[in-house]
Formats: sequence, C-alpha cells, structure tokens
Amino acid sequence: MSHWNEVTQDALDQYVRDLFVSEDDVLQSIQTESRSQGLPQIHIRPEEGLMIQFLLTAIGARHVVEIGTLGGYSSAWIARALPPDGHLITIENDPGRARSVDAFFERVGLGERIEVMNGLAPACLETIASRGPFDAIFMDAPKDDYPAYLEWSLDNIRSGGLIMAHNAFWGGAVVGAAWRDEHQLQGLLSFTRSVAYDKRLLGTIIPVGDGIVAAIRL
Ligand SMILES: C[S@@+](CC[C@H](N)C(=O)[O-])C[C@H]1O[C@@H](n2cnc3c(N)ncnc32)[C@H](O)[C@@H]1O
Repeated sequence: MSHWNEVTQDALDQYVRDLFVSEDDVLQSIQTESRSQGLPQIHIRPEEGLMIQFLLTAIGARHVVEIGTLGGYSSAWIARALPPDGHLITIENDPGRARSVDAFFERVGLGERIEVMNGLAPACLETIASRGPFDAIFMDAPKDDYPAYLEWSLDNIRSGGLIMAHNAFWGGAVVGAAWRDEHQLQGLLSFTRSVAYDKRLLGTIIPVGDGIVAAIRL
C-alpha cells in the first residue's frame, strides 16, 4: 500500500538538501548580501543549484550563458561546475544589480570566471553569439521571452549541450493550480511545448524545486 499522501514535497526537498547540499562561503555570502541589499528572494533553491551543477558537470561544460543574474546565487552554482579555464556570461538588465554582483565576484576571486553583462537579454545574446557555440544556457528571467531564448539556444548551443530553464512548474500554474501573470504563463507553456516537440532536442522536466526544463541539443 502506498503512503505517498502522507509525504509533502517540502519534506522530500529537505531530505535531498540535508543529504547532498553544501553551500560554500561564496554561496552563503551571496545569500547574506542579497538580504542586506533588499533584493527579492527569488533566487533558485540550493537543491536546484546542485542539480544544475550536476548536469553541467555531466556534459563537461566549459562555456555557459545565464539569463537573469539577480545577486549571483545561481551564477555561483554554475561556476562550481566549470573547470579552471571555464567561463560563464551572466546577463542582468538592472544596472545596479549588475554592478554590485560584478564587484562581489571580483572580491571573492571569481571575476575571471564569471562575466556579468548588463543589458536586456535579447540584445546581449545577439552580441555574444559570435563567441559561441556555448555548452549550456540557463534561463531564469521573465517567461514571456523564453520562446525567443530557445530559438537563440538552438542556433548557439553545441550538439550535446544543455538548455535549461527555471520555474518549469511556475508554482503549479502550469497545471492550473495558482494564478500568475497570464502573459508569462503563456510564454512558459509555449516554450515547454516547443522543447517537448522539437526533434532537435531531447527534453524533460526535472522535478526539483519549482522544476527545471532541461534539454540536450541533439
Ligand atoms: C529570478 S531573478 C534571477 C535569479 C538568479 N538566477 C538566481 O537564482 O540567483 C531574474 C533576474 O532577471 C533580471 N531580468 C529581468 N528581465 C530581464 C531581461 N529582459 N534581460 C536580462 N535580465 C532581466 C531581473 O532584473 C532579475 O534580477
């Protein structure tokens, strides 16, 4: 007999976190700085960061792009997966956030490894395309633009590379559980359908935290 209805998702997430997650000084100080700067607490969860690190390590990623930096928490998880000569370009449209996270990464010795690019993602992606192909991309910004970021990714992520996007479940809204911004929801649904049906991709949703859409570029 199944006892699943006695178990909550939070308890399972906590089980994974307790067993596998270790936050180094950098990750801990990002959390502290983010709170003291009053940044919205919308960064990825530690167990999601670990999953991203796991996937990037599995494909031997060296050159990665991230859309949506905020305080640099997910960037630091990505950086942990990269070899010494690896490089992350993380894109943030808020100039204040970009400046302060850039200064933080310089201070903690990650300035070489993590390049913070200030600007709107569509324009930044166009600018960096000539530096590709990249091994992976992680999207964590407003969902209306995910379909456009997918188009860019199909052209600029190498074969065998990874396309990842945060908030696959959007707090349950993808199955009608909660109301969220309708425009973003439609963007997310359209993006996820494209990942599911596009024959150039092997995709799925990894059900950790709020879900990560993940696809291998075939
Ligand atoms: C959810 S937060 C990113 C959280 C971060 N990935 C983490 O887990 O630590 C989204 C960030 O994307 C930025 N953003 C929103 N629209 C953007 C756009 N069009 N281009 C680039 N950045 C954008 C916001 O300013 C915000 O800091």
